[in-house]
Amino acid sequence: MNTLEKKKLAEMPKIELHLHIEGSLEPEMLLSLAEKNQISLPYNDVDAVRAAYRFRDLQSFLNLYYLATQCLKTEQDFYALTLAYLRHCRDENIVYTEMFFDPQTHLEHGVPLAVSMAGIAAAQGEAEREWGVDSALILCFERDRPAEGTIALLKDAEKIGGIIGVGLDSAERNHPPAKFAATFAAARALGLHRVAHAGEEGPPEYILEALDKLGVERIDHGVRALESPELVERLRAEQIPLTVCPFSNVALGGFGNLQQHNVARLLESGLKVTINSDDPAYFGGYLTANISDTWDALGLSFEQTIQVQKNAIDGCFAQAHKKREMYEKLSVYG
Ligand code: ADE
Ligand code: ZN
Repeated sequence: MNTLEKKKLAEMPKIELHLHIEGSLEPEMLLSLAEKNQISLPYNDVDAVRAAYRFRDLQSFLNLYYLATQCLKTEQDFYALTLAYLRHCRDENIVYTEMFFDPQTHLEHGVPLAVSMAGIAAAQGEAEREWGVDSALILCFERDRPAEGTIALLKDAEKIGGIIGVGLDSAERNHPPAKFAATFAAARALGLHRVAHAGEEGPPEYILEALDKLGVERIDHGVRALESPELVERLRAEQIPLTVCPFSNVALGGFGNLQQHNVARLLESGLKVTINSDDPAYFGGYLTANISDTWDALGLSFEQTIQVQKNAIDGCFAQAHKKREMYEKLSVYG
């Protein structure tokens, strides 16, 4: 990307569709929350935390991610965490973001659902009012936990209000999606959207299962789809959005480096690719850096930057009039 294109990328209105709010917890905030809430961590300073950001695979990352979530205790903590991410959105011209959160982890740490959701909602309201940053919330179920109790959790969240959909995350290997079929059917009956992580570390069959057994509308990651030509053809024909996260895939060993990432091939295959940051505090950068560095590594064109933004507008769950507005604002750039 040349300098002018980088400037246009920075300025253009962007959308993020794959972001775990807990994965935006930067080391400075982690340490201050740990001190405030008297949680002992095996790290004394920011450098020690950053030194722990060397991951072999998804599980090695999740071990640290869940350890860090213990430090989120109060409504104020969730508010501060979410507001900090939404401030990043303001600074990067991310005008709309659909954020994930992992309530089962927080419940296990003694944080009621109403507490985490109230903190997140307060920050969403403030970011919208103060900065015009629009956002939505997706409740993720952790696939390596039992499905029991997830429908009750879903109903509790619905009573509180504020979620637009459900997702499926956490350790993918040996955890196919089908176990959550009834939960996702219940979400559908409630009029909620459905997405699932699939084909991050798991095989293409998990992507198929997420589509057919969970009725998902998007696939989070999905990079292993290329191993199955039949699946690629289906994803292309149905234009199922993929929320690809290049920094994440490299940080967790899916690809040796950005040059080896398959996102160029996913785009060439006619798939509805979007670019996202996943857990930006842990993986080395937010949305704009993910796009810019990936485009440089793979020699992708500026038109393809516009294409992935259009794909994100098409694939997001905002209302039709908001999508039209986003299209109009984007049209200035290409
Ligand atoms: N939770 C947070 N980040 C995740 C990822 N990349 N894959 C699965 N679960 C996650
Ligand atoms: Zn993710």
